[in-house]
Amino acid sequence: MDRITVIIAENELTEREKLKGQLANEQDIEVIGEARDGKECLELVKRHQPAVVIIKEDLPIVNGLTVAEQLSSEMPEVGVILILTGSEGQEVWHKMLRAGIKEFLTRPFPVDRLLEEVRKVHGIQSKAAKRMTAATPSAPVEPEGPKRRVITITGPRGGCGKTVIAANLAVALAGVSEKVALVDLNLWGGDVAMLLDVSPKRTLGDLLPGFGGIDYDVVDSVMSKHASGVSVLAAPLTGTFDGSTLSRYMVQSILEALRENYEYTVIDTGYANLESTLAAMDYSDLILVVVGMDLPRLRDGKLYLKNLLAANYPKEKIRVIVNRSTNSKEISASEVETILEFPVTTQIPSDDALVGSSVNLGQAFVSSSPGKPVSKAILALAETVSPMATSAKKRSGKWFSFMQ
Ligand SMILES: Nc1ncnc2c1ncn2[C@@H]1O[C@H](COP(=O)(O)OP(=O)(O)OP(=O)(O)O)[C@@H](O)[C@H]1O
Ligand SMILES: [Mg+2]
Repeated sequence: MDRITVIIAENELTEREKLKGQLANEQDIEVIGEARDGKECLELVKRHQPAVVIIKEDLPIVNGLTVAEQLSSEMPEVGVILILTGSEGQEVWHKMLRAGIKEFLTRPFPVDRLLEEVRKVHGIQSKAAKRMTAATPSAPVEPEGPKRRVITITGPRGGCGKTVIAANLAVALAGVSEKVALVDLNLWGGDVAMLLDVSPKRTLGDLLPGFGGIDYDVVDSVMSKHASGVSVLAAPLTGTFDGSTLSRYMVQSILEALRENYEYTVIDTGYANLESTLAAMDYSDLILVVVGMDLPRLRDGKLYLKNLLAANYPKEKIRVIVNRSTNSKEISASEVETILEFPVTTQIPSDDALVGSSVNLGQAFVSSSPGKPVSKAILALAETVSPMATSAKKRSGKWFSFMQ
């Protein structure tokens, strides 16, 4: 078995010995060099080309982050793990993002974390190397993988249930796919993370300063995992972010990175006419338009749908969802379609008690109460957005087991 070769860059002798000791007992890891400053680290790495280099951020002569930045651009095949003290400012974090360095350990860390990180970085690097080889022109073209879906949830008005639907739809999709991303584009006070009781360490706001090039590793480093398996890209915490700087280009770069890595990307949006909302819609395979169930809201819905068509969004991309459909006794389902002049894909009933408590508890109702009509409606919606829409039920039966 090839061992994972490692170089350690740490100026303090005791810490260096400690790191070395922690790695020494592992069969699959071999420490092949030690550096006491940044300059020596660069020389050693160039000479020995280790699989992984562990670099303390605060190194003398050439600082560790500068070394890491240089290595990731000049020797991308070498995996870098940065060791932080935890007292570094945001600036260090943003520089790391810019350089695409997302593997780091903050002292103190248990030996298990160190070993896990070394193996993980090595695994990522080996996969990347294989991808590079596979990408040579002579390599056979890979058969097309499963179809990806990027789904934007929008609506003509605020408060119509976009966030509730986006969060529950993503959790429902996690029942059939391990690769589901949920993005909160509500730049001011987005509440996706709260609805799913996720405490994000990083948010969309952290991507901004690092925007020299957004690749998947960078986006992945700011995502948080929900218990259902959904990866959440949370909105910036209120008051820490100037929303006007989220450009079309940036939204699309983020979505591009997510599409590569997730089967489903569900996007919760803010105001309909924001550049970020439009960018998400442009990039999406499906646009779910949520409308409310009373005449003024339906009229808004009709106008909004007309505008989408006038703006050349293809009709087949657009799906209409009537939320709180049981709220009106006066308007029937068929009348809704007449008013909207658009077919309705899903009607989601009202359930104040369940939706209210699910919002307050941060629990998706599709998983806490899958048998309730409101949950069934979202599970059915999930089925319609799946690229395998017609075969999913037969194939896995998972949709059904979810609904029981
Ligand atoms: N089907 C439903 N039954 C009962 N209550 C609902 C339903 N859908 C949404 N709600 C309630 O409506 C409120 C608004 O929903 P939500 O926050 O999802 O709307 P939104 O469109 O995301 O609003 P905003 O535009 O402000 O982001 C929520 O607090 C939720 O409790
Ligand atoms: Mg919302």
